[in-house]
Amino acid sequence: MDMGIEFIDKQGTFCLKNAERSSYLYFPLANEQGMKSCVTPLLGGDAKGDQNSFLLQPVSSEELHNNRSTRNFWCRFSDGRVWSATGVSAAQEAERFSGQEEKTELLAGMMWHKITRTAEKLGIRSEVMSYVPYDAGKLEVMMVTLENIGTEEYAITPIAAVPLYARSADNIRDHRHVTSLLHRIRVREEGVFVTPTLTFDERGHQENKMTYGAAGYAQDGSMPQQFYPTVEMFLGEGGTYLAPEAVYRQTEGRKPQEEAAGYPDELCGCEAMGAFAFDRCTLGAGEKRTYVVLLGMASSEEELRNEMKEYGLPGRAQAKLEDTRRYWRKQNNVLYTTGNDSFDQWMYWVDFQPMLRRIYGCSFLPHHDYGKGGKGWRDLWQDCLALLVMNPETVRPMLVDNFAGVRYDGSNATIIGEKQGEFIADRNHITRVWMDHGVWPFLTTELYIRQTGDLSLLREQVPFFKDAQSFRGERYDENWEQNRGNWLLTKHGDRYEASILEHLLVQHLTSFYDVGEHGQIRLRGADWNDAIDMAKERGESVAFTAAYAGNFTGLAELLAVYQRKTGQTECALSEELFMLLPDDTAVYEDAEKKRALLYRFFEATACCVSGVKKNIPIERLEQKLRAMAEWMKRHIREQEWIGTPEGMHWYNGYYDNHGRRVEGMKWTQGQRKTQGKAPVRMMLTSQVFTIMSGTATDAQVREIVRAADRYLYDEKTGGYRLNTNFHEVKLDMGRMFGFAYGHKENGAVFCHMAVMYANALYQRGFVQEGYRVIRSLFGQCMNFSVSRIYPGIPEYFNAKGRGMYHYLTGAASWLMLTVLSEIFGVKGAYGDLMIAPKLVAEQFDAAGCARVNCGFAGKNIEVRYCNSKRKEYGAYEIREALINGVKTVGADCETVDAAQTDSLGKSIIIPKERLTETVNVIEVCLG
Ligand code: G1P
Repeated sequence: MDMGIEFIDKQGTFCLKNAERSSYLYFPLANEQGMKSCVTPLLGGDAKGDQNSFLLQPVSSEELHNNRSTRNFWCRFSDGRVWSATGVSAAQEAERFSGQEEKTELLAGMMWHKITRTAEKLGIRSEVMSYVPYDAGKLEVMMVTLENIGTEEYAITPIAAVPLYARSADNIRDHRHVTSLLHRIRVREEGVFVTPTLTFDERGHQENKMTYGAAGYAQDGSMPQQFYPTVEMFLGEGGTYLAPEAVYRQTEGRKPQEEAAGYPDELCGCEAMGAFAFDRCTLGAGEKRTYVVLLGMASSEEELRNEMKEYGLPGRAQAKLEDTRRYWRKQNNVLYTTGNDSFDQWMYWVDFQPMLRRIYGCSFLPHHDYGKGGKGWRDLWQDCLALLVMNPETVRPMLVDNFAGVRYDGSNATIIGEKQGEFIADRNHITRVWMDHGVWPFLTTELYIRQTGDLSLLREQVPFFKDAQSFRGERYDENWEQNRGNWLLTKHGDRYEASILEHLLVQHLTSFYDVGEHGQIRLRGADWNDAIDMAKERGESVAFTAAYAGNFTGLAELLAVYQRKTGQTECALSEELFMLLPDDTAVYEDAEKKRALLYRFFEATACCVSGVKKNIPIERLEQKLRAMAEWMKRHIREQEWIGTPEGMHWYNGYYDNHGRRVEGMKWTQGQRKTQGKAPVRMMLTSQVFTIMSGTATDAQVREIVRAADRYLYDEKTGGYRLNTNFHEVKLDMGRMFGFAYGHKENGAVFCHMAVMYANALYQRGFVQEGYRVIRSLFGQCMNFSVSRIYPGIPEYFNAKGRGMYHYLTGAASWLMLTVLSEIFGVKGAYGDLMIAPKLVAEQFDAAGCARVNCGFAGKNIEVRYCNSKRKEYGAYEIREALINGVKTVGADCETVDAAQTDSLGKSIIIPKERLTETVNVIEVCLG
């Protein structure tokens, strides 16, 4: 393994030498008040509050090496020499490949980033610590320390220089110049502040409410002496950010203006520059001096200045840094200790990623240069998975609110508002329906109920979403009026509310009948793979038909538990929903009839429902769901199991827009003459959900693993690819086939699906196979010279093995969940704690120990495994378990596996009442 990244403590802090020698690196700095920054090793990157308020110019990944408009900090020596403490000057850049380049070292932890740069020749070292205070508004702090590492005393003039973009991201190529005319700039004693008069963006022309600024303080609290508040003033004619005239020629700057004074004419309508020079300072040998540079935005100049002022007080910026570190460490409350420290530290970052996605959404890091900060439906639910583990108290209301986004045709609102539970009507006449969307809410809800035992959630009454879209995006309800609210109404005009169970049933039953000509659920706009988006008419997703089938089984099981634990025997559902629960199951066999039934249901519920509810015995409902699940699974088994002449077998997961099976072996046009063998077309997603849902038999799982190892596994790029090379721009499937092979949704190692593959394998007891997936992903992430990413899991690895779209990915939530609940086997059993380890021998340390700390049922727990002989998974059993030092025996300790008659087996359940301490230590002896 490459030692590029070195962990230096147990809190994920890592070190990387000469990080600027890797391209595309960026590091997130943010807070929960919505400050979203990112920094590169040269202090590039950007900073923003939202799409319409970018403090620094927005950057996409290519701008990371293109732009020089960074957070610079210049030093002008009294003898005229010039040096950039952040390494961004023409001279330093020219040295990059000379072998004479300055040495740098990056040290970073959650929400802080420190670069140390040593210029031996000049006898100076800089340390630039960047962070976003956890409890501030939208503020970024840069603490720059200069140290004389030579033997002679010298004098330098420090000059901070950060261009302030101060407007909407839209204006980067839409009236960039005109929007600078809106700028009104003021120089205050501590910095430069810009308050545009208006904003020009997609919302139209509006009065602006935001002030942006940069301020500076020396360590004794003294403030800058000269200011260069516009780009023109700082760069001078012909200057650039690598060679600004103000620095090189020592041009005269401005002085701060009177407090009351308005906006000086000559500063109006200019590109703003947060540039200012501090008093010249003398540094003796070994002496250091620190400057604090603050970048921020707020709804008024006064508010921003007040907030910044605090950080100018001596020692305050440092104290806030410590608070910020402490805060984020506390948030990251799932800690692993295995035989591989690097794995544990890597997981520390993976656990952190869902928090980042909560703040950034799916936008606002350089690779994520799309979207406007919102989240998709799928991501909304999956991000709850991680929250459930880390911060379960907040999840219940979130689940309840999110269900209000479900439409009565089983589709859902796709425009998600700022506030929790706020969904916005889709005004497009043609809307997109993702057929997988119904799958995720159940998975999250089920996990929640298993963790907490809170079955009453299923009874919670929630409205249904209503806008003009009906018939799963096929029709437009002209009669719908926005002013009646985004809720489904009854025919009497009342808001219709129903249980969460009914919401889940609506999502699943509508899908069951929404089938294509092969009897599999229609693909519609796409499934999980957003880029399978060109098979709307005839496409079918077998992969997600299997996922739904798994959910039907899960729902049936949940209902059985519900009845057993609550004693309730009936539940009330809308009378219309009974249409989708017919007694005559002959309809299952006939795709045409299924569709006809579904459209009758749509007709009956498109504008409103009757509001009449009828009871159904839970047992009957459960049986019906099981029958549907079995029908779907059987249908897939009979129809979709495919193979190659080499004797490989797996499941076909799709039908294209010509109604043709997608996977298998297929000649590409014109290929037959030139090549001996037809290329194999295999997709990972199809395997993941047939395995996870229990559609694939155990024997088939073995076959699938063999085929995946043969066709999809690629060690150089991190393991299991999303698909083989189809050698075709398959326009009857989706834009993914337009992407070069090995990139993103076309055959990259796409971490989210790879992790779900691991999860499915673990769930089915294929532990070594699952571990292989996780180990290869981990190996690739930490193989820095190839992956070139900081610790954590990226969205995917490209064809060369580079990690792409780092940080903001659903892969993190799933990985965290897989490691905790499958590998460590710590999970809920309807509120009680289940322990069922699936660690392999090499995951234990030399003494045979492995440990996890996390929360459960409002308490902290530490589960310690001891496998002193380091036996392999399968060879060990749970021999003994102690809870807080007391051996658990008898009634307190039941095994889950019916085959086990005593407490010594694969799993144990600990009643939550046994977790009496603040930190509960559970020692589990394996032997
Ligand atoms: C992204 C999207 C996710 C989608 C996936 C595949 O994955 O966020 O919703 O299913 O692409 O198209 P992520 O970056 O979350 O791993």
